[in-house]
Amino acid sequence: MEIGTQTVILGGGVTGAGAFLPQGAVVLDQGVIRWAGAQADLPAEYASWQRSDLQGRLLTPAFIDCHTHIVHGGHRAREFEMRLQGASYEEVARAGGGIISTVTDTRAADEDSLVAQALPRLDALIGEGVSCVEVKSGYGLDVETELRMLRAARRLGQMRPVRIRTSFLGAHAVPAAYKSRADAYIDDLCIPALRAAHAEGLVDAVDGFCEGIAFDTKQIARVFDVARELGLPVKLHAEQLSHIGGTALAARYGAMSVDHVEYATEADARLLAASGTVAVLLPGAFYAIRETQMPPVAAFRAHGVPMALATDCNPGSSPLNSLLLTMNMACTLFRLTPDEALRAVTVNAARALGLNDTGSIAPGMRADLSIWNVETPAELAYRFGFNPLHQRIFGGAI
Ligand code: NIG
Ligand code: FE
Repeated sequence: MEIGTQTVILGGGVTGAGAFLPQGAVVLDQGVIRWAGAQADLPAEYASWQRSDLQGRLLTPAFIDCHTHIVHGGHRAREFEMRLQGASYEEVARAGGGIISTVTDTRAADEDSLVAQALPRLDALIGEGVSCVEVKSGYGLDVETELRMLRAARRLGQMRPVRIRTSFLGAHAVPAAYKSRADAYIDDLCIPALRAAHAEGLVDAVDGFCEGIAFDTKQIARVFDVARELGLPVKLHAEQLSHIGGTALAARYGAMSVDHVEYATEADARLLAASGTVAVLLPGAFYAIRETQMPPVAAFRAHGVPMALATDCNPGSSPLNSLLLTMNMACTLFRLTPDEALRAVTVNAARALGLNDTGSIAPGMRADLSIWNVETPAELAYRFGFNPLHQRIFGGAI
């Protein structure tokens, strides 16, 4: 297939343009979507433009993975084995494993090594039609390593045709040297690292891990206050293992997203709806740590909280590298509809990152599109362990 600077693409079905269009057409002009609609309604002015016929294939917005930790050193297969023998994720973390063991491996890796280790993970995502990936810091927990992780993330975006959005996650875990002194860690390292990373243009958003094994709401609020002062949007790992109020805090700060949220309540759903915050569901982590508490999907639906999905690709709780599998898991485990799952990795994922120029097919949006060897949108979530991507279009280019 060829895509010129001015092209009319004839689907197959087209999703992400409001309703599903069984015989859709999308007009691309210099990397931007100019028009989308039913083929029968194609305006006469485009009649003479170059055409590309997808021969019945489905066209969707390119996927967005809005929560990942793809930049990190090493792996934690040993902990996987420990959990198989009965240890819980929290027990492993409290015994000095978990995030802290990845911190050791990440501190030992230079920037080139972090980039080299992340590239296969990024390439696997791109291979499934992903055009935008959020990447978090949070395995450095000192100024130098947090910055190195973010620099590695920015470099990934120069090496591949993909958009990278960074989140500063200094408040991810309390490092060993600050054991039982979480407040001192926030003052001495986390906030200075945030300021330094921001000064270097490395931060698109500020994240935290609000949990019994990490930081409480007061500590997260202090980090969010600095984010606010710097004009940076916030998001939060909240209510993953217990309910300690992270969701309400995030809503109070107008967070772009709250992520995990298995233990969130109906009252939380109301707050999220009012603050326009996206609930990012991470079924890979739910599955890997054998969580049994389901996120309150019915409450999110009832209150109109937009739901996104992401891989949470990380070496501990979610060594998952596929958004297609994530969609299938969200349907099978959380009972999302395939249509909700597709919106969750496109338009709602864009919103979770504060992006308004990608994730849907409408005039003025970037031409970030995926062409699939399937006929219907439901097929994307229905199969698993199979990649039906035909081609990916990034900013108008194949
Ligand atoms: O999103 N919840 C906190 N952070 C990660 C886990 C990171 C790790 O275990 O290395 C998560 O699940
Ligand atoms: Fe995470």
